[in-house]
Amino acid sequence: MLELVEVGRTYDDGHPVHALRHVSLRLEPGEYVTITGPSGAGKSTLLNVLGLLDVPSSGSYLINGMETGRLSEGMRGAVRGQLFGFVFQAFHLLAGRTAVENVEIGMLYGPHGRRRRRELALAMIEQVGLGHRAHADPRTLSGGEKQRVAIARAVAPRPQVLFCDEPTGNLDNENSAALLALLRELNGSGLTIVMVTHDPHVAQEGGRRLCVSDGTVSEQ
Ligand SMILES: Nc1ncnc2c1ncn2[C@@H]1O[C@H](COP(=O)(O)OP(=O)(O)O)[C@@H](O)[C@H]1O
Ligand SMILES: [Mg+2]
Repeated sequence: MLELVEVGRTYDDGHPVHALRHVSLRLEPGEYVTITGPSGAGKSTLLNVLGLLDVPSSGSYLINGMETGRLSEGMRGAVRGQLFGFVFQAFHLLAGRTAVENVEIGMLYGPHGRRRRRELALAMIEQVGLGHRAHADPRTLSGGEKQRVAIARAVAPRPQVLFCDEPTGNLDNENSAALLALLRELNGSGLTIVMVTHDPHVAQEGGRRLCVSDGTVSEQ
């Protein structure tokens, strides 16, 4: 479904940094893939390339057999919005909007009208265990609760793949465990998950584990 062929990503501000080198990788629907490796190894770059947030400098990236290199920026955005959801270490919730309003934002460009978006957002907030906090301002939520809202927002539009970059990075052990249980449940219902983590314990969650070292990816 997602296939990298000999992908490289070089950043060049002054002197070149080879963040990814000759990466070839196939990700299948339904997989739960974790990506580990030391800081600066290229994990986020790999996630961003897979999520169409960044563009390879060389090689090709195919989504369902479609070469993405020739897509316009607008088309890349459309494909990204249709297929992918994202969760990051910093929760990126809008303050001054309620939890459920934050979840609705994820569906703004989808097919649903306002009333249906509210229904779906409330159902999603319930599913992540925050029904009682649906109308709270994110500033009043704990870190673990914020990340649950971020996950609800990411999965409400029904993406095929959820990309998570260090989703437990700002959480304590208890909240991490609850978050990982939620991700496991989502994967169990068919969602493909690709999660970057530097934490070896969290990496154990993956049915498939990849290690990034100096821009090179290996299976573990
Ligand atoms: N926008 C950028 N401009 C220049 N260098 C970058 C940029 N993003 C990442 N890098 C460099 O690319 C390498 C890989 O970074 P990254 O993918 O963020 O690693 P990780 O997520 O494993 O910590 C690092 O050397 C980093 O400094
Ligand atoms: Mg990173």
